[in-house]
Amino acid sequence: MKRVQYDRYGGPEKMYFGEYELPEIGENEVRVSVKAAAINPFDWKLRQGAMKLVTGRRFPKAMGTDFAGIVQATGSNVGNVSVGDEVFGTVDFKKSGAFAEEVVVEASHLAKKPPQLSFAEAASLPIAAMTAWVAIIDRAKARPGARIFINGCSGAVGAFAVQLAISRGAVVTGTCGPASRDHARAAGVDPLFDYSDSQAYARPGSYDAVFDTLGTLDVGRGFSMLNPGGVFVDINPTPVRLLRGMLSRRYKLAFATMGIKRLPEIAALAGSGTLRPAIGLEAPFTDALSVIADTETGRRTSGKTVLAF
Ligand SMILES: NC(=O)c1ccc[n+]([C@@H]2O[C@H](COP(=O)([O-])OP(=O)(O)OC[C@H]3O[C@@H](n4cnc5c(N)ncnc54)[C@H](OP(=O)(O)O)[C@@H]3O)[C@@H](O)[C@H]2O)c1
Repeated sequence: MKRVQYDRYGGPEKMYFGEYELPEIGENEVRVSVKAAAINPFDWKLRQGAMKLVTGRRFPKAMGTDFAGIVQATGSNVGNVSVGDEVFGTVDFKKSGAFAEEVVVEASHLAKKPPQLSFAEAASLPIAAMTAWVAIIDRAKARPGARIFINGCSGAVGAFAVQLAISRGAVVTGTCGPASRDHARAAGVDPLFDYSDSQAYARPGSYDAVFDTLGTLDVGRGFSMLNPGGVFVDINPTPVRLLRGMLSRRYKLAFATMGIKRLPEIAALAGSGTLRPAIGLEAPFTDALSVIADTETGRRTSGKTVLAF
């Protein structure tokens, strides 16, 4: 079987198609034939070695995290899915390898695909929607009338964050680039600013939460935009941002992994239309190397880039 893998940490040139054999499934594991796999910034950050202290130095490493497909086999303890089910989920990032014809994954990292969603749409949910959930519901505590500012309301995480916040009755202000304006406005972001408009960040004491999806908003500036009980939510912690933020109880981190148990709830929200995945580009798996490289080096699409098998 074929997958995208690499033998050293580094840039896009390190990726290649490799042959692999799947391990036997454990009692809590499931084997899935992959129909679609979504590309996340996390995938190339892992390959670049951003988490090498955790991911270690055993190679080759397989790329890819989020996928949707059809269950081929289940371990003896698995109760949530059966052979033939259409599912979506995320592989453990320490073993990642969703850019592959088949994966073996913990059953707890899977949920049934809502029938209303295509495989591509379902594959685009896990990391982005779980991160948005942790940020908007757990950290920002979105509730009716809450005022939430989302810096980067048009990316995969940002768009799901807008949908979740509005579904909870919050009022969302946001920033995006010119190409994303129509989408963001249609999603209900109001007022909406361009990233470059300094007026966006010049509203002291206005928000119950500021969610920076991009990692570009100065943490101190974000704090100044908060009302006294407000929180700043970060998903791109760098040492500098961490240091700045950890000095304040108003600084909160959110990670996708914190939301893994929410996959069935995320499936239900997507099935009911509350979460609406947007696909920007669906490309064949055979083009994976160039498509991942182009996405990594800044190709913009209004929605997720997904590999189809
Ligand atoms: N902590 C976690 O667990 C976690 C989980 C998921 C993601 N993240 C991080 O959060 C960030 C956003 O992730 P995502 O999946 O939402 O990414 P994405 O879908 O690629 O969104 C990228 C966002 O960046 C904006 N952008 C501006 N200039 C850009 C450029 N030159 N190239 C690409 N994007 C540009 C886009 O805005 P416009 O379209 O309006 O230009 C868009 O809103 C990434 O840094 C990712 O690593 C962290």
